[in-house]
Amino acid sequence: MTANGNKMNYKPRETFTSSLGTIAATLGSAIGLGNIWKFPALTGENGGAAFLFIYLFCVVFIGLPVMLAEFIIGRKTRSNAIGAFKKLEPKKPWFLVGWMGVLSSILILAFYTTVVGWILAYIFKALSGSLSGIDANGAVAVFEKVTANPVSAVLWQLAVFALISLIIMAGVQKGIERITKTLLPLLFVLLLICDIRALTLPGAKEGLSFLFNPDFSKVTGMVVLIAMGLSFFKLSIGMGTMLTYGSYMQDEDNMLATAGRVVIADTVVSLMAGMAVFPAVFAFGFEPASGPPLLFFTIPMVFNSMPLGQVFLVLFFVLAFIATIGAMISMLEVPVAFMHEEWGLKRNTAVIVTVLVIASVGSLATLSGSILSHVLILGKNFFDLFDFTASNILMPLGGLIIAVYTGWKIRYKDIQEELSNRGAIEQENMIRLFSLIVRYITPIAILIIMLNGLGIIKF
Ligand code: PHE
Repeated sequence: MTANGNKMNYKPRETFTSSLGTIAATLGSAIGLGNIWKFPALTGENGGAAFLFIYLFCVVFIGLPVMLAEFIIGRKTRSNAIGAFKKLEPKKPWFLVGWMGVLSSILILAFYTTVVGWILAYIFKALSGSLSGIDANGAVAVFEKVTANPVSAVLWQLAVFALISLIIMAGVQKGIERITKTLLPLLFVLLLICDIRALTLPGAKEGLSFLFNPDFSKVTGMVVLIAMGLSFFKLSIGMGTMLTYGSYMQDEDNMLATAGRVVIADTVVSLMAGMAVFPAVFAFGFEPASGPPLLFFTIPMVFNSMPLGQVFLVLFFVLAFIATIGAMISMLEVPVAFMHEEWGLKRNTAVIVTVLVIASVGSLATLSGSILSHVLILGKNFFDLFDFTASNILMPLGGLIIAVYTGWKIRYKDIQEELSNRGAIEQENMIRLFSLIVRYITPIAILIIMLNGLGIIKF
């Protein structure tokens, strides 16, 4: 910090270096545990295809517009989530949405790193061969062993924090972006192999019809809210991540195209994970509503049933781990960019402060699987509470505020200028459509789904 408390000591803001870099970073943020772990778990718990269809509706009419709105605000202000609104609306409370984003980032990372810890543990289990040849009961037993030991579960989570801090502080983020760029396609290929094996298992058909034949009779307000929450979580929106990444975009980046590609790729990867998991659920006699362990039950079984399975299994968890890095970095970026730009902290100091806060909250989530399993708040353990609060309350609320701001406070001319890169790209109809959706459909849909899901109003 300079003597007058100013923030003049940091370099001009960096931007992503190419439009491919922009897509890689944004996609790196979107693709992660949400696709391979959360999407199958929630789809299984909430009845399958009907949930999937509601989720897809939310992706198109809520997720995509909110992502674009965040890009617009970010690049227009070239600021972090809190600073952006302070710039746009000085002395008005809009910046509070940025604070909600910081809180969401802490809550999500708290339980996200728990699950990444499980992934690390599974890499070692797979390497040691202890997953080879196990049956369905064995798969359940392994998962219980990994999560029920409080000491090792917390140590794995701490290992995740250490790795991620090292990656950020060593300034190798760019390197990671490059690695992600090459390894994400590999993850895609591995999922494809997994899909082919799963779809040829006896009983696969049942899994497919679970995923694609909707039965809307099981849909409740809460199910819709959870589907919407998943779309926020999946696309990293409603908490300022995409706003912050928008602020790093170059003037020439095509935001509509970027958002469109990211949303499509993210959805495809989620569906591919679903097509690997659900056939296996039915083939091996698991419960579709098993919840968080679902991925960890099924994937070892799928690979066990193919040649070279153990090699693929290690590779799968390694790639899954790599996919989570981009997501974790993007979450950390919300508080880190804020502390760096608004409080003048050095980036590394900001990383340490954030990680220390999250690590202490995070162990509560991890210990929910063991010694804290009986501590329930509103009927939920810490793990579920953090997830529910961030995904189904804070992020949708953030998305609502961002959509309202973009639809009603930013002039059409400014939206047009950002999305067309000052007239350089011809896409007037799309821009008009976007501004209509973000003004009316998105905010109304979020509001109705939230009020109905939380039982405040019954439709
Ligand atoms: N979208 C990420 C995933 O699917 C999670 C995430 C949420 C990342 C919010 C950033 C912000 O794993």
